[in-house]
Amino acid sequence: MMKSLCLSLLLFSVLFMNSLLEVQGRKWKGEGTTLNLESIVIGRCYDYIRLVNPAVGEKNCSEIWEAFKNAFINKDPCSILPKDYELFISLSLHPIPPNKSLFWENNHLLVNSFADRGRRYMSLADTLFGFLGDFLNWCGQANSTGLDYESCPTTEECENNAVESFWRMASMTYAQHSSGVIHVLLNGSTVGGAYPQPGFFADYEIPNLQKDKISQIVIWVVDDLEGPDIDSCGTHTVKVLENRLNTLGYNVTCTDNYKSVMFLLCLDYPDDSKCTLSSSVCSVDGSPLSDGPLTDMGTVWSVVVSLLRACIY
Ligand SMILES: *[C@@H]1O[C@H](CO)[C@@H](O)[C@H](O)[C@H]1NC(C)=O
Ligand SMILES: *[C@@H]1O[C@H](CO)[C@@H](O)[C@H](O)[C@H]1NC(C)=O
Ligand SMILES: *[C@@H]1O[C@H](CO)[C@@H](O)[C@H](O)[C@H]1NC(C)=O
Ligand SMILES: *[C@@H]1O[C@H](CO)[C@@H](O)[C@H](O)[C@H]1NC(C)=O
Ligand SMILES: *[C@@H]1O[C@H](CO)[C@@H](O)[C@H](O)[C@H]1NC(C)=O
Repeated sequence: MMKSLCLSLLLFSVLFMNSLLEVQGRKWKGEGTTLNLESIVIGRCYDYIRLVNPAVGEKNCSEIWEAFKNAFINKDPCSILPKDYELFISLSLHPIPPNKSLFWENNHLLVNSFADRGRRYMSLADTLFGFLGDFLNWCGQANSTGLDYESCPTTEECENNAVESFWRMASMTYAQHSSGVIHVLLNGSTVGGAYPQPGFFADYEIPNLQKDKISQIVIWVVDDLEGPDIDSCGTHTVKVLENRLNTLGYNVTCTDNYKSVMFLLCLDYPDDSKCTLSSSVCSVDGSPLSDGPLTDMGTVWSVVVSLLRACIY
């Protein structure tokens, strides 16, 4: 009798503590809103229109912030839909130059450096609307105009959350406005394959490409330098992607370990065997070849050895 009473009391306290924690703290499993969200978004907006890409012309950054915020504040954080960002998108939209689009999966940071803020390519994060949300987190709460800084729902908890719906809307818009030669950078070292399904590219971008504006789709599958080679052009999930795009009538080419991207990866692994610069031209450090006639066998031998070492890769 005493034992079961104790157990009930214990159970009761655990439940009580749990709901107390929920009330005053984390409602969701995901990270809360990024601190200083408003300043970051407005600051990024001015940075973009004044310095990063002034070609987009004049935009009203406070109006863009208001439209962004109104998509999700004072609403159930699990009932935000892509179309709630329609006004935000129409205020921040600008043309994407032909041949500059760069789609990707599972290599966010690499794409950020490769695209170089739109100088080399214009990935979604290099458009004004993508730039404003890159790496940020946010959500509101029902019946309150405040943001939730403690926690936000993950996509596993509910897919109609503020961040997921933002990126769905941004991805669809980005795909609709892409033209010319389209590039896709995939990670050949991803467990499960380079072309994820479900995925933003598979589900929100490919279906929104405007066929008549696109001349070619270039796929690059790049493995991590020190990572496994799980997927490549013509195999596994990349084959699935190539077939899908061919069936849709696109002119598709695929290249493994595209050299320009490899050079970028090599910055961090200069001694990796894939990072040698002298593949066809053999050069010898110190250049004893030009120092005059080779008189003794010792010198000849050391030149041969250096040449072999320089050419072996
Ligand atoms: C920007 O939009 C706000 C409304 O959000 C408006 O009050 C303000 O006048 C606009 N600024 C300009 C320069 O148009
Ligand atoms: C886009 O690329 C195609 C094919 O390389 C080229 O013919 C075209 O001139 C390029 N367009 C622009 C605007 O650079
Ligand atoms: C590629 O995917 C692997 C496995 O998910 C990850 O560890 C790696 O950082 C990714 N590579 C790049 C360049 O992002
Ligand atoms: C928000 O307010 C509405 C109407 O006043 C009410 O029906 C609803 O239960 C409230 N939701 C929450 C989460 O408090
Ligand atoms: C696909 O595009 C490439 C590069 O522009 C071109 O050389 C090739 O002829 C095209 N193939 C078809 C079938 O249109």
